[in-house]
Amino acid sequence: MTSTQPFVMINWADEAERLSAAVADDAAWYRLVAHELVRPADRLAVDVGCGGAGMAEALGAELPPSAFVVGVDSDVEVLDAARRRIVESGIDDGHLRLLRADLDTELAVLPTVARGADVIWASSSIHHVADQQGAIDALAALLAPGGRLALAEGGLPGRHLPWDIGIGTPGLEVRLLAAEDRWFARMRAGLPGSVPMPYGWPTALRRAGLSDVSTRTFTFERPTPLSAADLRSVLDTLAQRVRRADADGELDPSDARTWARLLDPGDDAWLGRRDDVFSLSARSVHVGHRT
Ligand SMILES: C[S@@+](CC[C@H](N)C(=O)[O-])C[C@H]1O[C@@H](n2cnc3c(N)ncnc32)[C@H](O)[C@@H]1O
Repeated sequence: MTSTQPFVMINWADEAERLSAAVADDAAWYRLVAHELVRPADRLAVDVGCGGAGMAEALGAELPPSAFVVGVDSDVEVLDAARRRIVESGIDDGHLRLLRADLDTELAVLPTVARGADVIWASSSIHHVADQQGAIDALAALLAPGGRLALAEGGLPGRHLPWDIGIGTPGLEVRLLAAEDRWFARMRAGLPGSVPMPYGWPTALRRAGLSDVSTRTFTFERPTPLSAADLRSVLDTLAQRVRRADADGELDPSDARTWARLLDPGDDAWLGRRDDVFSLSARSVHVGHRT
């Protein structure tokens, strides 16, 4: 099924609270990756497309006390929510700065805060930029000698449901992934000045002049049966993904009806009543080094 509806670009302001709330879920992973990326002599780290600034916080915790971290994002409300989260968690020691800059149109601003960075981290943000290679080139050029550019992109999307869920047509979740893939293609095509990047992230890092490029993939699996909190988090994520795919007309109408029942606490088929919902996914981190 291919939508004929006009594509609605993501309004990041609508995602601001969700991005900040998601930091808690990813905090352990951020700590692990930050620990591997940061070196004792590092002085500056940058989290690009920082969302809730969870990785900015983790990088700050790994760096020496005199070092600085900058979180960069194009959306004011995303940054406001991140700032509130940081103040509420009591980690504001004056060494973490948040800056609004758009990687599509304001790359020239970045050297003022990020030139000579030891670590630049960009998670799920570069794929929203029209010229991905152009942004990666610009970020690589900011690195200090020995600096690392880490892109958290790709991996395997989350899987949560048995193939046959008992209502609707089996394979519901695979079709949601296919709908999201079509949505992604339209999102990329809809970015003003969109430039294709018909190769993978490690190649993009090498083309940016970085060396020792490597990829590490982290798997995420929550114990089953899921705890009440994990189940709630999975259902919230599914609801958000279904909403987005449906709003853009990418979901088959009968699948949309099945999802509506599965996600309705008042329905007998509500997923919250099941003990076979699971959570499995993988995220890849691609790292290149400046010599
Ligand atoms: C999917 S979220 C990822 C947030 C966070 N890095 C994470 O992994 O949870 C994408 C983030 O990139 C930001 N973003 C999207 N396009 C951008 C652009 N052109 N320049 C800078 N930030 C951008 C959004 O505002 C959003 O916070």
